[in-house]
Amino acid sequence: MQTIIGTDIQEAARLLREDEIVSIPTETVYGLAGNALSETAIVKIYEAKQRPRFNPLILHIPDSSHLERYAVTDPVSNRLAAALMPGPFTLLLPKRSIVSDLVTAGSDKVALRVPAHPVTHSLLSLLDFPLAAPSANPFGYVSPTSALHVLSGLANKIPYILDGGNCEVGLESTIAEVLQDTVVLHRAGAVSASEINRIAGLPVTIAAHKARPDTPGQLKSHYATHTPLYRGDIPALLNQFKGRRIALLLFREMKDLPITNNTTSFILSAKGDMTEAARRLFAVMREIDVSGFDLVIADHFPEEGIGRAINDRLERAKAEYKIP
Ligand code: TXA
Ligand code: MG
Repeated sequence: MQTIIGTDIQEAARLLREDEIVSIPTETVYGLAGNALSETAIVKIYEAKQRPRFNPLILHIPDSSHLERYAVTDPVSNRLAAALMPGPFTLLLPKRSIVSDLVTAGSDKVALRVPAHPVTHSLLSLLDFPLAAPSANPFGYVSPTSALHVLSGLANKIPYILDGGNCEVGLESTIAEVLQDTVVLHRAGAVSASEINRIAGLPVTIAAHKARPDTPGQLKSHYATHTPLYRGDIPALLNQFKGRRIALLLFREMKDLPITNNTTSFILSAKGDMTEAARRLFAVMREIDVSGFDLVIADHFPEEGIGRAINDRLERAKAEYKIP
């Protein structure tokens, strides 16, 4: 199958109505979408991504008024939806029976999101079904933030990539679940814990990292480059790996580092803007991965706002967390 990159929303809709899978742009990362009400399409998603069937998919809907069709809402979830959808925010809710176990990997909960990207909003408005879509990368690899990233991982496995330009946010959505007297944060993203706390009026609990987590995408080996990635004391790591070809992934410029000719610095935001750093992170990780480095040494970001989500992704990309 030849993969075409284009901007034809009608063509994407036609393919999706025929149970084909199509990559779609969102403001977070590109998704690999199929009709969420068609088991044929869902199986194609798992196969193209080589994704284990125990890892459930997010349902994408055009508007938060559609939440009730697929899930049972509650007042706090509705408040979060009103404030944060459309946006880089996913709600985990009790599912209705219309949602197949194949989408939720057997769970009685379903994850729902309203993407803010205008192209995908138009596409969803044309369709009479929601789109199940994981990130459009082979399982475990760095998520795609451009149409070309999608092509590099899924060429000849999908018929169409709907090109919506580079993703504005650049990190996967925040995933939250409202419980009796707390909101559980299952994945950090551009919507921060403090923002959720302010809207929900409930304390926010960060889900613990487990070997088999409640949200299986939180497996530690996720979001990883093929090049081994290390974090820690940067001068000490540079000395430890002296003589190797090192990619130094920095938030902003750092002075007085023991850098040799073998080291190349990649600065994510010269002006120290974390939003810009998040937007560029995955593209730079991919660039490093095709540039023949022996290893990556990655910076620590300030533990505030989207900095937490960046630290989370880099932590999961670390060499010692990779599946042997
Ligand atoms: O920003 C995003 O969320 C992107 C765009 C394409 O929407 N999607 C994305 O999907 O990152 P994916 O499949 O790569 O990550 C979805 C995460 C996984 O960690 C998965 O385990 C979790 O959501 N998830 C989905 N459905 C769930 C469910 N029913 N219960 C628990 N976790 C769920
Ligand atoms: Mg993913």
